[in-house]
Amino acid sequence: MSGLLASAFEGGASEISPRVVIYRVALFVASMLFLLGLRLLTSAETARRGMMMAVWGMIVGVVGTLIHTDIVSYGWIVGGLVVGTVIGIPMGLLIPMTKMPERIALSHAGGGLAVALVGVAEWYAHFRLGYKPGHVDRFAMGAVGFECVMGAITFTGSLMAFGKLSEIIPGKARVFPGQNAINISLLAGTLIALGVLVANPAVPGLFYAVLGVALLLGITLVVPIGGADMPVVICLLNSYAGVAASASGFALDNNVLIICGALDGGSGFILALIMSKAMNRSFANVIFGGFGSGAAAGASGGAGGTAREASIEDAAAWLKEAQSVIIVPGYGMAVAQAQHAVRDLSQALQANGTTVKYAIHPVAGRMPGHMNVLLAEANIPYDQLFELEAINEDFPQTDISIVVGANDVVNPAAKNSKGSPIYGMPILNVDQSRRVLVLKRSMKPGFAGIENELFVMEKTSMVFGDAKQTLGKITGALKGGGH
Ligand code: TAP
Repeated sequence: MSGLLASAFEGGASEISPRVVIYRVALFVASMLFLLGLRLLTSAETARRGMMMAVWGMIVGVVGTLIHTDIVSYGWIVGGLVVGTVIGIPMGLLIPMTKMPERIALSHAGGGLAVALVGVAEWYAHFRLGYKPGHVDRFAMGAVGFECVMGAITFTGSLMAFGKLSEIIPGKARVFPGQNAINISLLAGTLIALGVLVANPAVPGLFYAVLGVALLLGITLVVPIGGADMPVVICLLNSYAGVAASASGFALDNNVLIICGALDGGSGFILALIMSKAMNRSFANVIFGGFGSGAAAGASGGAGGTAREASIEDAAAWLKEAQSVIIVPGYGMAVAQAQHAVRDLSQALQANGTTVKYAIHPVAGRMPGHMNVLLAEANIPYDQLFELEAINEDFPQTDISIVVGANDVVNPAAKNSKGSPIYGMPILNVDQSRRVLVLKRSMKPGFAGIENELFVMEKTSMVFGDAKQTLGKITGALKGGGH
């Protein structure tokens, strides 16, 4: 840290202008705010403060950069700020929580494009306009080339992820003949061409060819990956965007970019590892596996049999007698915006003497922490939320599990059906509780497109309808007021 601060004054106080010192100190302060913000984000209680620190870090970083002595004209910068604001504010206000993964994929695409364009500008300025034959700065060319490659892969890869998640293009894995061989050849070709470019930076044909192949690679890498693996892909792309930004920091000699890029790259990678573990998949299996493609998606997990339907009165009567209840939220709770109705039901149950816990699966919903965010919004105490490992042993002693719009994360096929595409994914052991109430609108499958044998088990009763309305009616009946 002291080295970083010292770098603000590098060159001797007499040689550098006050503007440069302010610029460097601002970047130092911004970096510290980002680090502290990330630290505070590790706990739910301090997360809001952490987010505000990161916001201040961004403000200090942007303002500090605006006083940089190299800025020739503010016209383009103001134009960029206006365009960014016009796009960013409606995106933040209008895109619902349920579409958050798509929004994140689009943001990553924008970040990747920006980094790649900065790299192109750097290359053009240093190795075309200012190139002095015989004076090749190989480190700078390596950093610029890496920045462009990672930025380009992130750009097209994130656009593909966005297309798949929003169903503009089919979400299924599209495995093409020789897919892995083609991808590995493209990657190897890019790296070799990058090596040649480091030795001869001023060859425009080679530079643009590397950029073009990296853009293609972003598409061919994501096409074979199915929608069910998109959480991991988005985290990986997040990591790529971070690494690209860090390389751009080296190219621009900008500490805050190096630090933030490294934080982004590291955290994205760790999140991708956590996601893979939650789905019991290896990285290699995610990237090369073609999970969710034709044959695999067709495997239903063998859910035969007939589901039993329960009335609101039945559900309320069972819940009145229950000593212990576990609520399992899923994507359907987010769609129905039923988090407040969930809280009302759990308060009514607690008032009746029932113990209520919430079981949170790491990939429930459509983004990491999706359920935690929604339940926190409804002021559900954090100590009632339990992660998969912490709660799975409780299910056999639980009177009733209420599944609120969850499907894949409670599908026993992950434990029992070897042919199922989700086989091996850790699930919440809802099937082991004494009775199961499932609140959803129909028998339709969830994200992975497979049937769920939990719904046809003898202990399971389906209460069909929109989760928010169903919960409201059950709470009303539980309180004795009918519905
Ligand atoms: P899903 O398996 O997607 O199931 C959600 C269920 O909610 C559906 O079966 C749907 O059934 C029901 N539903 C939808 N709208 C509803 C409403 N208004 N009221 C009541 N129910 C409603 O959800 P899950 O169990 O949370 O599993 C998540 C899946 O998404 C996993 O496969 C995971 O890999 C994947 N995924 C996760 C993430 C992250 S990071 N969390 C990101 C992308 C993908 P009906 O249509 O019959 O109502």
